[in-house]
Amino acid sequence: MSRKVLVAYASKMGGTAGIAEAIGAELREQGHDVDVLDVTQVHTIEPYQAVVLGSAIYIRRWRREAVRFLRANADGLRTRQVWLFHSGPVGPDKDQDQQMPPVVRRLARDIGATPAVTFAGRLEPATAKGFLARRLAKGNLAGDSRNWAEIRAWATDLGIAISASRH
Ligand SMILES: Cc1cc2nc3c(=O)[nH]c(=O)nc-3n(C[C@H](O)[C@H](O)[C@H](O)COP(=O)(O)O)c2cc1C
Repeated sequence: MSRKVLVAYASKMGGTAGIAEAIGAELREQGHDVDVLDVTQVHTIEPYQAVVLGSAIYIRRWRREAVRFLRANADGLRTRQVWLFHSGPVGPDKDQDQQMPPVVRRLARDIGATPAVTFAGRLEPATAKGFLARRLAKGNLAGDSRNWAEIRAWATDLGIAISASRH
């Protein structure tokens, strides 16, 4: 059954936004009514039956606007299906699952969401923002490691779970 789904993202250099768009496209293909939004543009989660939230990881932390969203909407998220993902690893460690930051782990537990899945990220000279990012983008971490097949497969499973839910 078709549901209204929010895919919200927190992204600095656009890589995580691209992942959110790919998830949204897959969910739409399955017939869901999907909004893909920068998390700062979400005014209410009231219309949505399911919420997907993704954040970029910087120095082992989530972007603060994603953490703020989880905290501010905890009550509403508790009564909805919620899936979390984060994106970060690049270079030789691109396939390593990243731990959820402790504050995110606590909030996820509080709303009853399963742990965040890790997707590899992107760090490239053309899109790098900030001194450190531009510098790192010249080294062995450089590249677009986002695995579209993996992302799509995850979204396919989500779409099926969302359809099957009784919410
Ligand atoms: C300064 C800096 C710190 C980073 N720290 C982490 C980290 O702790 N863990 C991780 O997996 N990736 C880390 N990354 C990689 C980014 O998460 C990756 O480039 C990601 O795709 C960026 O997402 P965005 O384009 O949506 O902002 C870091 C990147 C930079 C530039």
